[in-house]
Amino acid sequence: MKVTFKIWRQKENSSKGELKTYITEGLTEDMSFLEALDHLNEELVLKNEEVVAYEYDCREGICGQCGVFINGRAHGPHDHMTTCQLHMRSFKDGDTIVVEPWRAKSFPIIKDLIVDRSAFDRIIEQGAFISSKTGTAPEANAIPIPKAIADRAMDAAACIGCGACVATCKNSSAALFTSAKINHLNSLPQGKAEQHERVEAMTWQMKEEGFGSCTFTGACEVECPEGISLINIAEMNARKIKSRFFG
Ligand code: FES
Repeated sequence: MKVTFKIWRQKENSSKGELKTYITEGLTEDMSFLEALDHLNEELVLKNEEVVAYEYDCREGICGQCGVFINGRAHGPHDHMTTCQLHMRSFKDGDTIVVEPWRAKSFPIIKDLIVDRSAFDRIIEQGAFISSKTGTAPEANAIPIPKAIADRAMDAAACIGCGACVATCKNSSAALFTSAKINHLNSLPQGKAEQHERVEAMTWQMKEEGFGSCTFTGACEVECPEGISLINIAEMNARKIKSRFFG
């Protein structure tokens, strides 16, 4: 299989970037997209050229580090799939594949396809945790939680923090990410004690980081590899109003 990659190359944040063309052969349809980039990098090493910088860790759709735009879509052509889960069988022999980093002011480019997503970490630090006594694990049924609520919390907890929602939003809003992290804990009894502080602190940090406001266009939900629902944002806004009265 032979493809033409057009890949965004940028030495560092302050330098000018550009799309560079690389024709690579010897790929197979069973290769993952990241393995195809590995293959390209091996060719670049043999030619004494600088390798393409891209990020990954788990390569299993868990860590959220591998996100890039592929032919204009966050994480590539399929719904509910991360870049590392994408395989070359999704492309045809002879295809041209354009690969670009996330584009958002709050995610500055570090190099090539790698962006700095530490703004997400700072939002997390503001409240995506619970304060509880340490010790042995409590009995599983000590705090009964209705299944519907447990399911809602688990759905929100599925967010892997990849940043596709921000990169794909016309306002570069982080509302889907932040709301998922808030609702995950605020839905559960364990998260109730700090629910008002959590929503205030995390949404405040979201603004501090320079993310835009949500205008409910819904692109984030469509491009989210985990299918995090837009309802989370509505819930976060409702919780914020509630926290003003009861916080
Ligand atoms: S490398 Fe971890 S989600 Fe893709």
